[in-house]
Amino acid sequence: MTTPTPNPASPYGTLPPTSAPALRKPISLPRLLEMHARGEKITMLTAYDATFAAVADAAGVDCILVGDSLGMVCQGLSSTVGVTLETMCYHVESVARGLRRSQATAWLIGDLPFGAYHESKEQALRSAAALMQAGAHMVKLEGGGWTADTVRFLVERGIPVCAHLGLTPQTVHALGGYRVQGKTAESAALLKGQAHELQHAGATLLVLEMVPAALAAELTLELAHCPTIGIGAGKDTAGQVLVLHDMLGVNLGKMPKFVRNFMTGAPGIREAMQAYVTAVKDGSFPDNTQHAW
Ligand code: KIV
Repeated sequence: MTTPTPNPASPYGTLPPTSAPALRKPISLPRLLEMHARGEKITMLTAYDATFAAVADAAGVDCILVGDSLGMVCQGLSSTVGVTLETMCYHVESVARGLRRSQATAWLIGDLPFGAYHESKEQALRSAAALMQAGAHMVKLEGGGWTADTVRFLVERGIPVCAHLGLTPQTVHALGGYRVQGKTAESAALLKGQAHELQHAGATLLVLEMVPAALAAELTLELAHCPTIGIGAGKDTAGQVLVLHDMLGVNLGKMPKFVRNFMTGAPGIREAMQAYVTAVKDGSFPDNTQHAW
């Protein structure tokens, strides 16, 4: 591990250097797809500020998601519904700056917040452009069905899109709570149909949140061009994502059942993140106890 070098220009210390700047090439979309093709699990973690993003990169995390979960963990909101595009841009900019300063290589994804892509495809393009100009490499949006046209519109205009199905927190009120999705044959078939439509529309990553492991595993095999990233969706997805505060054990609310506290036994935050990366890559996280149902 490289030791941080003091930055004479800063009275506040330094951002950590990447763990292996010479070894790790910048993560790009083709590299993520290659990883998936050769069976290497993709690691994703949320981060909302410059320092944690740089530490996550240094720990070897492949993708950093500036999630709208920041509404809960940073802003103290009770759901993601109140997060604005302006707030998302502020945090994406902070993270992108931190990654640049530490010569980081992670792939940076910014969440399109509630209401920022629902009105029209043109509105979605304006919002996505704002996140990309703030430094995101890819945008994420929630839901299936009507979103396929929006995904196609963005992808045709050069904006990589990560889709998000299953529990979609922006629609928590319509779903009636933070519940596992796709449990019945009918809802599983609907979710599968939507996932295929999103891949066909050009989505190149798909977050599957709180869906049964068997459904996530089937979709992972079926979607050859769109790696699945699970959260509470079992171990057979192409990659995993966790909310940073959850995996550090500092969740203010109820800890979701599918989370593991990686601070347990780790001397520090970077080591906890490294343990997460190792556990996802070697398939030991999640195990059979880390699921949502
Ligand atoms: O906002 C977020 O952090 C997310 C992840 C939970 C996937 O969407």
